[in-house]
This record gives sequence, structure tokens and C-alpha cells, in this order.
Amino acid sequence: MSSIQITPVAHPANIGAVATNLDVNNLSEADWKVIHDGLYTHSVLVLKNQAHATPKAQFELTQKFDPACSGYGHGKTLDAKRSILHPDLKTIPHQPQVQVIGNGFVEEFEGLKDITLKHPHHKTFHKTAVPEAEDLDFTRFYRWHIDAALYDLQPPRVTSLMAVSVPKGRTQTLRYDDDTGDELQVPLGTTAFASGYAMYDILSDSDKEFARTTKVEYAAHPYIWMSSAKSKSTGLGLESDGLELPANELPPVDESKILMLPMLWKNPVTGRFALQIHPSAVRRLHLKDGSVIGDLKEVRDMVYRLQRPGIAPGLVYCHDWEEGDMVLFNNQGTIHSVVGAFAPDEVRIFRQCNLASSAPPEGPESLSQEAWTQPLRTYEPTKGPQAALQAWMKPMRAY
Ligand SMILES: [Fe+2]
Repeated sequence: MSSIQITPVAHPANIGAVATNLDVNNLSEADWKVIHDGLYTHSVLVLKNQAHATPKAQFELTQKFDPACSGYGHGKTLDAKRSILHPDLKTIPHQPQVQVIGNGFVEEFEGLKDITLKHPHHKTFHKTAVPEAEDLDFTRFYRWHIDAALYDLQPPRVTSLMAVSVPKGRTQTLRYDDDTGDELQVPLGTTAFASGYAMYDILSDSDKEFARTTKVEYAAHPYIWMSSAKSKSTGLGLESDGLELPANELPPVDESKILMLPMLWKNPVTGRFALQIHPSAVRRLHLKDGSVIGDLKEVRDMVYRLQRPGIAPGLVYCHDWEEGDMVLFNNQGTIHSVVGAFAPDEVRIFRQCNLASSAPPEGPESLSQEAWTQPLRTYEPTKGPQAALQAWMKPMRAY
């Protein structure tokens, strides 16, 4: 019998619960069952007071959701040799599935020395930005996403985020800066979550039918492909200005590694379906009748129309981080975004772990799983490997 207490957060989209009276370093099988079901019931589970939890314990808890997997969710694309790709994301040497993210200079942490972490700022990714003079008071969602490589590797089931150091203080006003006037008061450096289940539930019947029967094809090498493109002001996908890298500037593409996933992913505990689309990486939509929507702007417009209602201010859960929080979130039932801007001297240290899943997410029964793994089309780079190598040098964060 477990002594863990789960207290749901009162939230309109039923996101969030707080778990107390546990020790991540010493979990019984009964504890694990409570954590597992709590995570899949509430989508975001905050394990309080885990400052002492080791990176090993964090990895083992994360892996327990998918015992057959062991590699980091972005695989080799983020390993130390490729650090030029991800200068702000450091790997813990003694537990390489766990990454360090945050802000500011850190002298020593878990075997890493003299590291400088940088919280991503929307001005580096959005087509437009909050004016400099307003930057401390106003902010945006940086990028709504699922933690996933979306090429070769399957999306992780669960991500764990451990708050080691958290600067506290001011709040900011998050603006959507579209034509809705929507805004949200947020704690400094919050992480925002939106429920894929609520996103699906509020669709019209015809949109639900569309979502149930449509498959999403992701771009090959999506984070390189999109590296020159700019985000919408809501952080929910990209503007279509033709800035994506052409095939001849991508690394070689193995067609069998292109991901095609259902639009709806099934919750293993509740049986509910979540609308789960990575809006920045989507490339084509494959419809029930066999037709394919390939025009990128049209694809993005359709996805945006389906997803935007689900990130309305009242449906977003913004976690107010405290040191020692270990947050587990259902990466196959939510999308999330980094939020806010730190001053360079505000030191924040987080540990993140997720593991590429051993199997594709489960979709509606009407969709054949075999079809998702079929080779799709031929990408033939016309330039040599040098162009591909240069493309790899473009920095692109994975969060
Ligand atoms: Fe993330």
C-alpha cells in the first residue's frame, strides 16, 4: 500500500495534480502504480520536495513508463559531439539520458564545470517580438511542442523535469499577439501545458471525425528543416514564408525513418484520445480517402485551426516552479511550451529526461499501424555531403 497523496489542481482542462509523501530515490511497486495512474489521469504530475533525487533515480522513474527503451528522446542529435547544435543543453556525464537546461553561469553541477545555460527567448524564434522596452513585463509562449525527434525515433511517453534552482519574483503578462487580445498572467519562467484531450473534446463533430481518420507526416530531419523558419506569435507553429531548408540542404534522408503518426493518441489508462500534433514539424496530412494535403501553408492552417482553441488562456496550465519539484508530464497527451525571459544573472538549473519510445503511440483502431511505417517518397539531395554538413551546423534548440 502506497502512502503517496495525489491532490488534483482545480483546472478547467483537468491538467495537473500534486503528489506528496514520496521519495523518488526509494519507490515501492505500490508507489509506482499510484504515480503511473496519477500521471495518465492528470497529464502533469508534480512530485514535491524531491531536491535530493539523483539523476539516476530520475532516469529510472522516467524509463519505468517504457521499460524497453533506454536512449534519450532526441537520440544522437543531442550527444556531446554535436553540442554545436544545442549549445544550451548539456548532458550529465554520469547519466547521459538526463540533460541540464536553464539560465546563467554555473560553476559546477553533476560533473559539468563552468557551464553557461541560456533560457530561450521568443525573439530568436518568432517572426515578430515583444518590443525591447516591454520585454521584462510582457512575454509569449516560446514554442508549443511535443518532446520528440520526430524522425527515426518515436515520441517519448513521459518527460521528467526537475527544478534544481529557480529564480523567484516577478510575474509577466503573456500575450498571444494574434487578433484575439488573449493574454495570461504567468509566473516568471513558467512551463505552460495544454491538454490534447481537452483540445480534442472541444472540436466540432466534423473536426473530430477528421482528426480520428487523418495521419500526420512529419518533415525529415525536422529541426534542421525548420531552422530558418519563424514562429507565429502564439508559438503554435510556423509562419509559411518559404524559409524551410530544401531537401538538397538536409542531411541524407532515409525514407523508412520518416514518421507518420495518427492525429489522435490514446491514453493507456483512461482510454481517451488526445489531439497530438507537433505544429512546427508537421509536413503533410494523409486523409481517410487516400488523398494527401502537401501544400505547407494549407497544412499549417488546418492544424492551427484545430489546435488554437485548445491553448485558450483558460485551458492552459502554467506551473509555478519551486525548487525540488519533479514534474512528470504525459508527452503523448499534452503539448507544452517554455515561457518568459530571464536576465543573464538569474540562475536557473533544471534536469530533463525523456526516452524515445519503443513503439508508436496508439491511435484510433480504424487506423492501420502498419501504414505509418511505410516508406513515403524519395528525397534526393542534389548537393554532396558538404551541404548536409553545413546544415547540421545551424543551431536549433530541441525545446
Ligand atoms: Fe520540451
